[in-house]
Amino acid sequence: MSNKFIIALDQGTTSSRAILFDHQGKIHSVAQKEFAQHYPKAGWVEHDADEIWSSQVSVASEAIARAQLTTKDIDSIGITNQRETTVLWNRKTGKPIHNAIVWQDRRTAEFCQNLVSNGHEETFTAKTGLRLDPYFSGTKITWILDNVKGARELAEAGDLAFGTVDSWLIWNLTGGDLHITDPTNASRTLLFNIHTGEWDQELLDILNIPASVLPVVKESSEIYGTTSGNNLGSQIPIAGIAGDQQAALFGQMCIEPGMIKSTYGTGCFMLINTGDQAITTKNNLLTTVAWKINGKTTYALEGSVFIGGAVVQWLRDELGIIKSSADIEAKAAAVKDSGDVYLVPAFAGLGAPHWDPYARGLIVGITRGTSANHICRAALESICFQVDDVLYAMKSDSEMAIPQMRVDGGATVNNLLMQLQTDILGIPVVRPQVQETTALGAAYLAGLATGFWKDIDEIQSQWAVDREFKPEMSEEDANKKRQRWLKALNRAKQWADD
Ligand code: G3P
Repeated sequence: MSNKFIIALDQGTTSSRAILFDHQGKIHSVAQKEFAQHYPKAGWVEHDADEIWSSQVSVASEAIARAQLTTKDIDSIGITNQRETTVLWNRKTGKPIHNAIVWQDRRTAEFCQNLVSNGHEETFTAKTGLRLDPYFSGTKITWILDNVKGARELAEAGDLAFGTVDSWLIWNLTGGDLHITDPTNASRTLLFNIHTGEWDQELLDILNIPASVLPVVKESSEIYGTTSGNNLGSQIPIAGIAGDQQAALFGQMCIEPGMIKSTYGTGCFMLINTGDQAITTKNNLLTTVAWKINGKTTYALEGSVFIGGAVVQWLRDELGIIKSSADIEAKAAAVKDSGDVYLVPAFAGLGAPHWDPYARGLIVGITRGTSANHICRAALESICFQVDDVLYAMKSDSEMAIPQMRVDGGATVNNLLMQLQTDILGIPVVRPQVQETTALGAAYLAGLATGFWKDIDEIQSQWAVDREFKPEMSEEDANKKRQRWLKALNRAKQWADD
């Protein structure tokens, strides 16, 4: 048994984190640093790519120092990252030519609309499993090429590199030796054919992006190279890469078709493993690569809910009916039900499976007897109903039996939320012991490649449940509530264009 550690670099949207895992898959030390968000215009969101790198490398050193270890104690590095966020840098100087354009950025909405009007959506969806939406990297690259002086010339000369955040980190970790990515990140760019596993020239041509900017696509678990220079010390193998939601799916050990995870953060990200089938959605989900290991690609269907834990923040910060997020559990538990109150938190429109940018939030069913407690309970239920809507779409697309849902993310400490979730879904909800599943997934991918863990069976045998929540509500009651939710939801749809 190894007494070394794996370090997972978890580069997220608001902070860079580094977590050391031991051979049992237990957390040994953690370091985290927030970094600046830049909003140059309404709907635009940028990060300073140099700050992404400097914050990430500093937390990595900090996590190692905190554990009183040195880089010699590190078996390997696994990388997981905010997906779709786009960095373009000069290969000669290693300097970014623009701030990173973040996945949330909407600046290419009109460009996407034009591509749809010109009949391109079907081509993109068939090849990439995505929608033509500003969310993904492709149109962000085009924007930088068209708007940053000299960018296109640099690209034509072969001196410009594009990367999602994984590529950017690895480029820096290896002192510019490696320009690589993995299929989970590539599958979020609008440029990668998820069926052939290759960059797609037709899509590059439509978006007017020279292939010279692209990284080489490796697998999600292999030894790509080692660190070099004076960053983290040299010669540490870099051995795992996955976008954060796919890493969480792996960290939850959802390795069989039909296994599903939901991450409860600001929003809720749900992925279901669909095995070797890239399923074409009929229900407005995304088809994506879950991972590629030993030459075998595993696929997933994905659905994202925009407002999950954020509805609790809203009750705290805007309505002031709770003092801290943790207060919601006691308040919601103080009433036996929501008193037929429904809250639809469509604050930023609705994501999967509705995709309605014009929906807006509402609270309906209020009577003279409605209290803050009822609203708190309705808010928790709204998270559960949205997750249920995505699950319904996933069941219908995949035609798979879904025996349970594995959960992670900050809000899963709320036991009432988890009970409401299992009641509404009608299947058990399983919370693992290690809830840092994103980082854990990246560590697993790295440790598999280096032999730190022998195989997936060894990893699976150490993955452990903290608590399993089972449905207590009758199916009939759950159905009645679902119908009331759908009625409220329909009233929230298409509101902003009136
Ligand atoms: O697709 C965006 C997602 O990868 C961002 O995740 O956890 O950094 O908000 P997170």
